Amino acid sequence: MITKVKGTQDILPNEIKKWQDLENVIFQVSKLYHFEEIRTPIFENSELFHRGVGDTTDIIKKETYDFLDRGDRSITLRPEGTASVVRTVIENKLYANPNLPLKFYYYGPMFRYERPQKGRQRQFHQFGAEALGSASPLVDAEMIAYSYTLLKALRLKNVSVKINSLGDTSSKETYKEKLTTYLSSKVDTLCTDCQRRYLENPYRVLDCKVDKDSDTLKEAPKPIDYLNDEDKTHFEQVCSYLDGMHIEYVVDKNLVRGLDYYTHTVFELEAALDTLGAQATLGGGGRYNHLFSTLGGPNFPAVGFAFGMERLLLALESLEIKEPTPQIHAFMIMLGDNVKAKALEVILNLRHGGLLIDYDFFDHNLKAQFKQAERQNPKFLLIFGEDEMNKGVINVKNIKTGEQIEVGLNELYTTLITEIQNEQHSCAGHCEECDEDC
Ligand code: HAM
Repeated sequence: MITKVKGTQDILPNEIKKWQDLENVIFQVSKLYHFEEIRTPIFENSELFHRGVGDTTDIIKKETYDFLDRGDRSITLRPEGTASVVRTVIENKLYANPNLPLKFYYYGPMFRYERPQKGRQRQFHQFGAEALGSASPLVDAEMIAYSYTLLKALRLKNVSVKINSLGDTSSKETYKEKLTTYLSSKVDTLCTDCQRRYLENPYRVLDCKVDKDSDTLKEAPKPIDYLNDEDKTHFEQVCSYLDGMHIEYVVDKNLVRGLDYYTHTVFELEAALDTLGAQATLGGGGRYNHLFSTLGGPNFPAVGFAFGMERLLLALESLEIKEPTPQIHAFMIMLGDNVKAKALEVILNLRHGGLLIDYDFFDHNLKAQFKQAERQNPKFLLIFGEDEMNKGVINVKNIKTGEQIEVGLNELYTTLITEIQNEQHSCAGHCEECDEDC
């Protein structure tokens, strides 16, 4: 048997509804925040991510799926969406749009060669959003509010927002010097990876999963303590806007995030939920004022975030929402071969009218057809035999009431629609009795 690749997942039909429900909420909130969808390719020239995300990050050093295509081009399956969005904005000169910031969201599979575990796959899905072309702290606050609203709209509990500031280039340089000096006498206490990180890019030592609880890292200088006045003001303004919106957050001085492009504000949204296991971070993001110039574009400051869809779904499991059994409108029981052609015509017409109809494909006897209908959970049974065909009628049985009526084939569609509408009306929203969302 050929099995799926380690770290990938099939999303089976019985799981699709929860994905679609999640997608619908996310897309609705995105509309509220006035963001438009953008789609970029799943693979890009490797250089984009090496330059964009940073050569010394774990993502690029250890996790990318890189390959040479048949034309010997170095290609990478995208590990994240931000670099691609920036590339397309540069390539298509979207930055020339006077209506700034550009506001885009994206959704799709990403690829990282990580050790698979609950909430961590090699192919996973991200929903992300980027606001491009403004350096204002209002946009930092707007993006934190957007990501916070998403979690509120999903009714997730025990959510916390962590924020920090890395400052812009000069603050980052000052801090890097401090950190390098601090670490210089402690290199021996670091893990082997961090000894390399110390030489290549000391910032990366700060998000080491092995050393994170060591005294060396706990006592290390923190970026936020080395911000210049301008960068400090930027951060204070972001905080004051969040306060204005009553969004609760904690300033986490250790938060640096695992991608090199960040400047100023970085943030993460976490949920303390048993269903998430060790992967409590649902999403994260931050400002990246120089990614455009790094990738050959103009000076174009931006902020964004991304959520892991699989992690959001795990978090939603904590809500214990009872999923109603999916229901079809009607199941057609066909009595005998002679009625099949006419029955198919009836079914086709009902489907063209937007009704969800199914029937038996295996020439089962009557009893087996009823059994199959039961499994499909229809609102109505449509029973069609030769007598009915000759009279131009069909028997319609309402499963809930048990009532059975004979209906002319010409009136079948309107009868079903009226019955369905009446039933929905009597439920008036969420129906306790039948436990359906009406
Ligand atoms: P990131 O923190 O690398 O940021 O990923 C964002 C989210 O994607 C994570 O919080 C997590 O929920 C999910 N995620 C990451 N890796 C995996 C994995 N292996 N399996 C399952 N879920 C995963 C970014 O990707 C940035 N591009 C975010 C951003 C946008 N910053 C600015 N704009």
